[in-house]
Amino acid sequence: MLHPEIEKRKTFAIISHPDAGKTTLTEKFLLFGGAINTAGAVKRNKANQSNTSDFMEIERQRGISVATSVMGFEYNGKRINILDTPGHKDFAEDTYRTLSAVDSVVLVVDCVKGVEEQTEKLMSVCRMRNTPVIIFINKMDREGKEPFDLLDEIEQKLNISLCPQSWPIGQGHTFKGVYSIYHNQLNLFHSDKTKVTDSVVKVNDLNDDALLDYLQEKEVGTLKDETELVNGVYGDLDISMYKEGLLAPVFFGSAINNFGIKELLDTFIEIAPSPRHREAEERDVMVDDKNFSGFVFKIHANLDPKHRDRIAFLRICSGKFERNKFYYHTRQDKKMKFANPMDFMANEKSLVEEAWPGDVVGLYDSGNFKIGDTLTEGEKLHFKGIPSFSPAIFKEVENMDPMRTKQLEKGIEQLTDEGVAQLFVMQPGNRKVVGAVGELQFEVINFRLEHEYGAKCRFRTLTYSRSRWVTSDDKKKLEEFVKRKQQHIGTDKEGNPVYLSDNDFMIEMTKRDYPDIEFHTTSEFK
Ligand code: G4P
Repeated sequence: MLHPEIEKRKTFAIISHPDAGKTTLTEKFLLFGGAINTAGAVKRNKANQSNTSDFMEIERQRGISVATSVMGFEYNGKRINILDTPGHKDFAEDTYRTLSAVDSVVLVVDCVKGVEEQTEKLMSVCRMRNTPVIIFINKMDREGKEPFDLLDEIEQKLNISLCPQSWPIGQGHTFKGVYSIYHNQLNLFHSDKTKVTDSVVKVNDLNDDALLDYLQEKEVGTLKDETELVNGVYGDLDISMYKEGLLAPVFFGSAINNFGIKELLDTFIEIAPSPRHREAEERDVMVDDKNFSGFVFKIHANLDPKHRDRIAFLRICSGKFERNKFYYHTRQDKKMKFANPMDFMANEKSLVEEAWPGDVVGLYDSGNFKIGDTLTEGEKLHFKGIPSFSPAIFKEVENMDPMRTKQLEKGIEQLTDEGVAQLFVMQPGNRKVVGAVGELQFEVINFRLEHEYGAKCRFRTLTYSRSRWVTSDDKKKLEEFVKRKQQHIGTDKEGNPVYLSDNDFMIEMTKRDYPDIEFHTTSEFK
């Protein structure tokens, strides 16, 4: 038996390709959970213009995202923690790291666009960790793809088995509602963007005449045929397969109209996993272990240059976290206590006295933390599952103001600690190379260096587009490889050698030439 505090926690993220409706769904969850009263309270996280000043302005308006980084609320006796992820693709790595801190996800798919590029990438990250996924097919009020075609597309492209829990009646202008297969009830669609309306008709089964009060005979006929087919093809929901990340329950709805959300939320709290054990390099850490442990998955800087402090977000993995108690910072090998840890309920933050596995606490930080850092009650632990991925763009840092060299170095060091981008050092000359997923990250670094550190740099684009972490069982062979390929080798922040390459072809050639070297696409290979 888990501790009731652990049992009641559900920590998850809502993820989607930009514009599928992640923000809208998040907001509607808060609305249903009673955490906010009207729609419009959650600010959009949009930086579609790929423009730094817009991006920074959005961050600032959002209260520097801190308020919405974690949104906790109570619903039907459960404590729900929604972890926010950035929508912009250039910040995908931030999203991947946030996914390391959740126990499950809700993936939103736009019924008009189907599976999009970002949807596939996010799903592959979920698969790496066997994260349980529930799929919400959104925008059913619009003319989209046929439901069966959509399910086929999702199953194929996302490589996961599906099990629909509700079935739509019509679509677009003919959309009447959804039939809940799970609860045998009809949920009638009314378009209402701001309030929670409850139009649910309970029926015994699809032969119940009561259905004809709401649907035409033809619609009932189609619904019967389709649900029969759904039952035949997809069968009953196997919750243990869902929990292993092998099967995704599917819901249909329209987030903007509050439609289909309650069924989704009610099923979510029933089936979504509570916090589970976590793998550390040293051992498996049980969630009900009496000793506290947790790791930092996100660091948020205060964009106001007058207040340089940052907030490190700590996911609690085991035990109980307490304010003002000394904890052990594994990497720095020192004890620290926190007088003002923050808790997040809806979009308010408040002082937290104690927190439990699954919770995320915000710790004020003056530069002690790096992504992946672990706090414990004294044991040296390193949690797995927070790797760096290969960046796509590599640029060398060129100092534009020699009088501010120190500030530049500090800025680059701290920004990469925060995980804004990755830093590689190349020889000769200790050249600093920044690797990022997209151009916007470089703009953000430039902007922040100038505004927060008073330093200026220029980025010189290199031809590389891939990085591979290299290891070998034979230490000598690795040393030899690093020496031979020195002009393509960078060292990451942990001191690991990384081979930088222009394309996959080059990597394949090098692999062939050096059979004793292993090439890893992420920084986690132990
Ligand atoms: P994101 O966070 O995944 O990027 O998506 P977001 O919720 O911001 O939604 C993207 C757009 O889709 C928004 O329109 C939103 O109103 C719309 N949307 C969300 N859910 C539904 C739905 O169920 N049906 C329909 N028809 N539209 C939906 P926008 O024009 O970009 O923004 P706004 O002007 O509405 O705020």
